[in-house]
Amino acid sequence: MKIWTISKILNWAVTEFKKNSISSPKQNAETLIAHTLNIKRLDIYLLLDKEISGTQLEAIMNIVSRRNIHEPLQYILGETEFYGYKIKVNKNVLIPRPETELLVEKIIHDEKNINSILDIGTGSGAIAITLAKNLNSVLIEATDIENEALIIAKQNATFNCVDINFHKSDIFSDVLGTYDLIISNPPYISQKDYDQLPIEIKDFEPKSALQADDNGLTFYDKILQKAKEHLTESGKIYFEIGYDQAKMITQIAKKYGFSDIQVFKDLNSFDRIMRII
Ligand SMILES: C[S@@+](CC[C@H](N)C(=O)[O-])C[C@H]1O[C@@H](n2cnc3c(N)ncnc32)[C@H](O)[C@@H]1O
Repeated sequence: MKIWTISKILNWAVTEFKKNSISSPKQNAETLIAHTLNIKRLDIYLLLDKEISGTQLEAIMNIVSRRNIHEPLQYILGETEFYGYKIKVNKNVLIPRPETELLVEKIIHDEKNINSILDIGTGSGAIAITLAKNLNSVLIEATDIENEALIIAKQNATFNCVDINFHKSDIFSDVLGTYDLIISNPPYISQKDYDQLPIEIKDFEPKSALQADDNGLTFYDKILQKAKEHLTESGKIYFEIGYDQAKMITQIAKKYGFSDIQVFKDLNSFDRIMRII
């Protein structure tokens, strides 16, 4: 049997990723090899001549073949980082995005005196968990329509040592209380845009977390229609939105009687966050 060293498997993985047009092939290969061998990425270069076992070789070849068909790195690793916290992910939840960190950052900065939050469509729980970590004594309720997402969200809350009340609800169907903040990063991609997404997203992340009817606006409409019943007197709504949706969501918000509407941009200067009072 041929001997495989870390150097040899690294070169092989990089070549495989280049053949299959995986972006950042070297970084991907290093990350996956380090993960499988349970070492730090930089340690690879101290251990280049180290021989790997047959089991390790098989495990690395297996994950390289998963990445070669464009499965996201985060699903292969089973985790990602969000606002500095480790968040478990699998195919049942959207991989939390950097844009969503901006939403959370804004709330942490601007909303220090609130008592209660409802996070609609919590997915991995990334928003709710980060807010629980950074806002003191806030009661947080987080919902999703998908049972499998709620399982991961609960595991993430336990792992990050925060107390959040998770439960299943179709938007407001099983929500009873009123909240100082209603937050949602709902599915907001129109079917037309969804069809154009790269396979890394379209073939692996749950469609139910991404695509929405009515040009991607249906969840904003459904949330805004009922929001007043679930907001305290000075309650506010925070949304993550698609880059071209601010005008249309403003119209919807006005239709349901909201008048204080603000839009905030992301780091690429796209409209990304809305605050509606
Ligand atoms: C864009 S993902 C956001 C996930 C997570 N909050 C984040 O920001 O990473 C939208 C989430 O909404 C959930 N969802 C879809 N339809 C829903 C509904 N009718 N009621 C509640 N949640 C829903 C999906 O399962 C998914 O977890």
